[in-house]
Amino acid sequence: MSVSVRIVADAAAVGDAAAELVIAGLGVRDAPVLGVATGSSPLPVYAALERRGPAGRLGLGRAPAPAPGEYVGRPADHPESYRSVVDREVTTRLGLDPSRVAVPDGTAEDLGAACRRYEAALRAAGGVDVQILGIGSNGHIGFNEPGTPADSRTRVAELMPSTRNDNARYFPSLADVPERCITQGIGTILEARSIVLVASGEAKADAVARAVSGTPDPTCPASALQAHPRVTFVLDTAAASLLDPARHGDHALH
Ligand code: PGA
Repeated sequence: MSVSVRIVADAAAVGDAAAELVIAGLGVRDAPVLGVATGSSPLPVYAALERRGPAGRLGLGRAPAPAPGEYVGRPADHPESYRSVVDREVTTRLGLDPSRVAVPDGTAEDLGAACRRYEAALRAAGGVDVQILGIGSNGHIGFNEPGTPADSRTRVAELMPSTRNDNARYFPSLADVPERCITQGIGTILEARSIVLVASGEAKADAVARAVSGTPDPTCPASALQAHPRVTFVLDTAAASLLDPARHGDHALH
Protein backbone atom coordinates (compact mmCIF):
# COMPACT_ATOMS: atom_id res chain seq x y z
CA MET A 1 0.00 0.00 0.00
CA SER A 2 1.22 3.50 -0.59
CA VAL A 3 0.10 6.89 0.57
CA SER A 4 -1.52 9.41 -1.78
CA VAL A 5 0.43 12.59 -2.25
CA ARG A 6 -0.98 15.95 -3.24
CA ILE A 7 1.48 18.75 -3.90
CA VAL A 8 0.33 22.37 -3.95
CA ALA A 9 2.07 25.72 -4.07
CA ASP A 10 2.18 26.93 -0.49
CA ALA A 11 0.88 26.55 3.07
CA ALA A 12 -2.39 28.35 2.32
CA ALA A 13 -3.05 26.00 -0.60
CA VAL A 14 -2.23 23.07 1.68
CA GLY A 15 -4.98 24.34 3.98
CA ASP A 16 -7.52 24.55 1.16
CA ALA A 17 -6.71 21.14 -0.31
CA ALA A 18 -6.71 19.47 3.10
CA ALA A 19 -10.00 21.14 4.06
CA GLU A 20 -11.64 19.60 0.98
CA LEU A 21 -10.40 16.15 2.00
CA VAL A 22 -11.62 16.69 5.57
CA ILE A 23 -15.09 17.68 4.39
CA ALA A 24 -15.25 14.73 2.01
CA GLY A 25 -14.13 12.31 4.74
CA LEU A 26 -16.60 13.64 7.30
CA GLY A 27 -19.50 13.16 4.93
CA VAL A 28 -19.61 9.45 5.65
CA ARG A 29 -21.58 9.44 8.93
CA ASP A 30 -24.35 11.39 10.62
CA ALA A 31 -22.28 12.42 13.63
CA PRO A 32 -18.76 12.41 12.25
CA VAL A 33 -15.64 12.53 14.40
CA LEU A 34 -12.85 14.88 13.37
CA GLY A 35 -9.47 14.20 14.96
CA VAL A 36 -7.66 17.51 15.23
CA ALA A 37 -3.97 18.27 15.58
CA THR A 38 -2.04 21.12 17.12
CA GLY A 39 1.16 22.74 15.83
CA SER A 40 1.53 25.31 13.08
CA SER A 41 0.96 23.08 10.01
CA PRO A 42 -2.79 22.44 10.54
CA LEU A 43 -3.62 26.13 11.16
CA PRO A 44 -4.28 26.87 7.45
CA VAL A 45 -6.64 23.86 7.41
CA TYR A 46 -8.74 25.34 10.22
CA ALA A 47 -8.63 28.74 8.50
CA ALA A 48 -9.85 27.14 5.26
CA LEU A 49 -12.64 25.29 7.09
CA GLU A 50 -13.61 28.53 8.82
CA ARG A 51 -13.80 30.32 5.46
CA ARG A 52 -16.23 27.68 4.27
CA GLY A 53 -18.84 28.88 6.76
CA PRO A 54 -20.35 27.90 10.09
CA ALA A 55 -19.54 24.46 11.32
CA GLY A 56 -23.10 23.25 10.97
CA ARG A 57 -22.98 23.80 7.25
CA LEU A 58 -19.84 21.71 7.05
CA GLY A 59 -21.42 18.88 8.95
CA LEU A 60 -18.97 19.50 11.78
CA GLY A 61 -21.52 20.85 14.23
CA ARG A 62 -21.93 17.60 16.11
CA ALA A 63 -18.43 16.35 15.58
CA PRO A 64 -16.46 15.42 18.65
CA ALA A 65 -12.94 16.67 18.05
CA PRO A 66 -10.40 14.55 19.86
CA ALA A 67 -6.91 16.00 20.14
CA PRO A 68 -4.10 13.48 19.73
CA GLY A 69 -2.36 14.25 22.99
CA GLU A 70 -1.69 16.52 25.92
CA TYR A 71 1.38 17.65 27.81
CA VAL A 72 1.88 16.04 31.20
CA GLY A 73 1.91 18.25 34.26
CA ARG A 74 0.55 21.45 32.72
CA PRO A 75 -2.89 22.67 33.82
CA ALA A 76 -5.58 22.40 31.13
CA ASP A 77 -5.86 26.21 31.06
CA HIS A 78 -2.13 26.71 30.33
CA PRO A 79 -2.05 28.70 27.05
CA GLU A 80 -0.02 25.99 25.30
CA SER A 81 -1.91 22.98 26.62
CA TYR A 82 -3.55 21.00 23.83
CA ARG A 83 -6.90 21.77 25.43
CA SER A 84 -6.24 25.54 25.17
CA VAL A 85 -4.80 25.39 21.66
CA VAL A 86 -7.69 23.28 20.35
CA ASP A 87 -10.24 25.58 22.04
CA ARG A 88 -8.53 28.66 20.60
CA GLU A 89 -7.67 27.45 17.10
CA VAL A 90 -10.37 24.93 16.35
CA THR A 91 -13.52 24.91 18.45
CA THR A 92 -13.90 28.68 18.71
CA ARG A 93 -13.07 29.29 15.05
CA LEU A 94 -15.28 26.51 13.72
CA GLY A 95 -18.12 26.92 16.21
CA LEU A 96 -17.78 23.41 17.64
CA ASP A 97 -19.07 22.48 21.06
CA PRO A 98 -16.03 22.59 23.42
CA SER A 99 -17.57 19.92 25.63
CA ARG A 100 -17.22 17.48 22.73
CA VAL A 101 -13.46 17.92 22.49
CA ALA A 102 -11.69 14.91 23.97
CA VAL A 103 -8.21 15.61 25.28
CA PRO A 104 -6.27 13.19 27.50
CA ASP A 105 -5.93 14.42 31.09
CA GLY A 106 -2.25 15.28 31.50
CA THR A 107 -2.83 16.33 35.11
CA ALA A 108 -4.31 13.01 36.25
CA GLU A 109 -2.71 11.35 39.24
CA ASP A 110 -3.01 8.02 37.46
CA LEU A 111 -1.79 8.79 33.93
CA GLY A 112 -2.23 5.18 32.79
CA ALA A 113 -5.92 5.38 33.71
CA ALA A 114 -6.18 8.73 31.86
CA CYS A 115 -4.80 7.03 28.71
CA ARG A 116 -7.30 4.19 29.03
CA ARG A 117 -10.18 6.65 29.56
CA TYR A 118 -9.15 8.53 26.42
CA GLU A 119 -9.05 5.38 24.29
CA ALA A 120 -12.47 4.41 25.68
CA ALA A 121 -13.82 7.88 24.74
CA LEU A 122 -12.59 7.40 21.16
CA ARG A 123 -14.30 4.00 20.99
CA ALA A 124 -17.51 5.38 22.52
CA ALA A 125 -17.59 8.08 19.80
CA GLY A 126 -17.42 5.34 17.17
CA GLY A 127 -13.80 6.00 16.22
CA VAL A 128 -12.29 8.85 14.24
CA ASP A 129 -13.58 9.53 10.72
CA VAL A 130 -10.87 11.93 9.62
CA GLN A 131 -7.64 12.48 11.52
CA ILE A 132 -5.67 15.62 10.70
CA LEU A 133 -1.96 15.18 11.38
CA GLY A 134 1.21 17.23 11.24
CA ILE A 135 4.65 15.62 11.00
CA GLY A 136 7.68 16.44 13.12
CA SER A 137 11.00 17.25 11.48
CA ASN A 138 12.15 13.90 12.93
CA GLY A 139 9.16 12.08 11.41
CA HIS A 140 7.00 11.91 14.53
CA ILE A 141 3.21 11.81 14.33
CA GLY A 142 1.34 12.85 17.45
CA PHE A 143 4.22 12.64 19.91
CA ASN A 144 5.25 9.22 18.71
CA GLU A 145 8.96 9.80 18.47
CA PRO A 146 11.41 7.68 16.41
CA GLY A 147 11.56 4.13 17.75
CA THR A 148 7.84 3.95 18.58
CA PRO A 149 6.30 0.64 17.46
CA ALA A 150 3.52 0.82 14.85
CA ASP A 151 1.07 -0.99 17.17
CA SER A 152 1.53 1.44 20.09
CA ARG A 153 -1.54 2.75 21.96
CA THR A 154 -2.25 5.95 23.89
CA ARG A 155 0.40 6.28 26.57
CA VAL A 156 2.82 8.60 28.34
CA ALA A 157 5.79 9.40 26.10
CA GLU A 158 8.99 11.42 26.43
CA LEU A 159 9.58 14.28 24.00
CA MET A 160 12.95 14.08 22.26
CA PRO A 161 15.30 17.06 22.70
CA SER A 162 14.83 17.97 19.00
CA THR A 163 11.03 18.08 19.47
CA ARG A 164 11.37 20.20 22.61
CA ASN A 165 13.62 22.54 20.61
CA ASP A 166 11.08 22.69 17.75
CA ASN A 167 8.29 23.51 20.23
CA ALA A 168 10.27 26.02 22.28
CA ARG A 169 8.88 28.80 20.04
CA TYR A 170 5.52 28.36 21.75
CA PHE A 171 6.94 28.73 25.30
CA PRO A 172 8.82 31.48 27.15
CA SER A 173 11.99 29.34 27.15
CA LEU A 174 13.20 25.84 26.32
CA ALA A 175 13.09 24.99 30.02
CA ASP A 176 9.33 25.58 29.99
CA VAL A 177 8.67 22.97 27.28
CA PRO A 178 7.25 19.86 28.96
CA GLU A 179 9.36 16.71 28.85
CA ARG A 180 6.45 14.29 28.79
CA CYS A 181 3.07 14.06 27.18
CA ILE A 182 0.18 11.71 26.68
CA THR A 183 -0.07 10.80 23.01
CA GLN A 184 -2.28 8.62 20.89
CA GLY A 185 -0.17 5.64 19.82
CA ILE A 186 0.57 4.95 16.17
CA GLY A 187 -1.82 1.98 16.36
CA THR A 188 -4.50 4.33 17.71
CA ILE A 189 -3.91 6.83 14.89
CA LEU A 190 -4.05 4.07 12.26
CA GLU A 191 -7.62 3.22 13.37
CA ALA A 192 -8.94 6.50 11.92
CA ARG A 193 -11.00 5.84 8.79
CA SER A 194 -9.03 8.39 6.83
CA ILE A 195 -5.96 10.48 7.57
CA VAL A 196 -4.91 13.83 6.13
CA LEU A 197 -1.30 14.73 6.92
CA VAL A 198 -0.25 18.29 6.18
CA ALA A 199 3.30 19.62 5.88
CA SER A 200 4.84 22.80 4.58
CA GLY A 201 8.38 24.08 4.38
CA GLU A 202 11.79 22.66 3.67
CA ALA A 203 12.36 21.62 7.30
CA LYS A 204 9.83 18.82 6.76
CA ALA A 205 11.18 17.61 3.39
CA ASP A 206 13.45 14.89 4.75
CA ALA A 207 10.82 13.46 7.15
CA VAL A 208 8.21 13.52 4.36
CA ALA A 209 10.52 11.71 1.91
CA ARG A 210 11.30 9.02 4.47
CA ALA A 211 7.64 8.64 5.40
CA VAL A 212 6.40 8.36 1.81
CA SER A 213 9.23 6.69 -0.09
CA GLY A 214 11.18 4.58 2.40
CA THR A 215 10.12 1.19 3.68
CA PRO A 216 8.08 1.47 6.90
CA ASP A 217 10.61 1.85 9.67
CA PRO A 218 10.14 2.89 13.32
CA THR A 219 13.00 5.39 12.94
CA CYS A 220 10.48 7.44 10.92
CA PRO A 221 7.16 6.95 12.74
CA ALA A 222 5.13 8.58 9.94
CA SER A 223 6.24 5.78 7.58
CA ALA A 224 3.77 3.53 9.46
CA LEU A 225 1.02 5.44 7.65
CA GLN A 226 1.93 3.47 4.50
CA ALA A 227 -0.07 0.59 6.00
CA HIS A 228 -3.26 2.69 6.06
CA PRO A 229 -5.68 2.40 3.13
CA ARG A 230 -6.83 6.05 3.08
CA VAL A 231 -4.06 8.48 3.87
CA THR A 232 -3.18 11.59 1.90
CA PHE A 233 -0.10 13.74 2.42
CA VAL A 234 -0.95 17.30 1.41
CA LEU A 235 2.36 19.09 0.87
CA ASP A 236 3.67 22.38 -0.37
CA THR A 237 6.47 22.27 -2.92
CA ALA A 238 9.15 22.82 -0.28
CA ALA A 239 7.96 19.93 1.92
CA ALA A 240 7.75 17.75 -1.21
CA SER A 241 11.14 18.81 -2.55
CA LEU A 242 12.92 15.54 -1.71
CA LEU A 243 10.26 13.27 -3.20
CA ASP A 244 11.08 11.46 -6.40
CA PRO A 245 9.26 13.35 -9.20
CA ALA A 246 9.14 10.13 -11.24
CA ARG A 247 6.95 8.53 -8.54
CA HIS A 248 4.91 11.54 -7.49
CA GLY A 249 4.88 13.56 -10.70
CA ASP A 250 1.30 12.59 -11.50
CA HIS A 251 0.20 14.44 -8.36
CA ALA A 252 1.83 17.48 -9.81
CA LEU A 253 1.72 21.00 -8.59
CA HIS A 254 -1.52 22.83 -9.16
P1 PGA B 1 4.40 21.91 13.35
O1 PGA B 1 4.48 20.59 14.23
O2 PGA B 1 3.19 21.77 12.50
O3 PGA B 1 4.28 23.04 14.34
O4 PGA B 1 5.65 21.97 12.54
C1 PGA B 1 4.17 19.37 13.64
C2 PGA B 1 4.37 18.26 14.62
O5 PGA B 1 5.31 18.32 15.43
O6 PGA B 1 3.58 17.29 14.58
